[in-house]
Amino acid sequence: MTDRYAVIGNPIAHSKSPALHAAFARQCNQDIRYEAILGPLDGFRACVETFRQAGGRGMNVTVPFKVEALALADTLTERARLAQAVNTLRFDADGIFGDNTDGIGLVNDIQQRLGFAIGGKRVLILGAGGAARGSVLPVAEAGPARLVIVNRTQARAEALREQFAGVAAVDVEPCDGLAGQHFDLVINATSAGLHGESLPLPAGIFAPGALAYDMVYGNTETPFMAAARALGASRVSDGLGMLVGQAAESFFLWRGVRPDTAPVLQMLQGS
Ligand code: ATR
Repeated sequence: MTDRYAVIGNPIAHSKSPALHAAFARQCNQDIRYEAILGPLDGFRACVETFRQAGGRGMNVTVPFKVEALALADTLTERARLAQAVNTLRFDADGIFGDNTDGIGLVNDIQQRLGFAIGGKRVLILGAGGAARGSVLPVAEAGPARLVIVNRTQARAEALREQFAGVAAVDVEPCDGLAGQHFDLVINATSAGLHGESLPLPAGIFAPGALAYDMVYGNTETPFMAAARALGASRVSDGLGMLVGQAAESFFLWRGVRPDTAPVLQMLQGS
């Protein structure tokens, strides 16, 4: 019997996950069916349970259910617990396993596809919401020389630093404290661009050879990418590769095989 998987979110119509997982399945000769489910805002748990009872083997979870999925899981990985969000559920015989592959999807995209080794580099994360929180542990595990978080609301950045105390060394700087500092990698984990707002970045923030990475993606260059280019970033990237990367890690958790993300990213870029 064909194993069933799904992505659940609200809204869900524009999700790329079904196309991604269909491509992975073809590439890896895995017999799976993957669908998109519109989760009712007040009925996430019931919806997951219905899918599981119907023989579902696992789910991807997206906005706005990642925190509810955390509560639903019987066992959690450390990276999911620290992210306080789950994007991957696997229905095992002994319960529901929850993980978060967003951060490792980001790090793999930066290190493998873009060939940028984080080890020993000065890294700045902009933002302290869910997207930033999910990336802290995987980025820290890649061994940067320094990991700094800056957020419009500084108290949220400080709360993140406290949360990761003893696990990841994080420095917090005020928004106006960046003048004169230089970073090799700047990751935009804010939603400013989605609201048509820009981030105040000082001149000189990008060290020679620096990479500016936006977790957001779109059909055209994002506002952060354009701003970074104007400030002299050597390379800029949107977050489409992160999307493919997190999906590949979910696929691996379910199927035990890790797909090659490059051709699938190319397929998305061409579509
Ligand atoms: P997500 O889960 O996508 O991270 P979130 O938890 O709402 O969403 O976090 C959004 C992030 O973008 C926050 O860091 C937010 O800053 P605040 O904590 O100060 O709200 C940041 N953000 C949103 N709009 C912004 C803007 N115009 N300028 C700077 N930061 C902004």
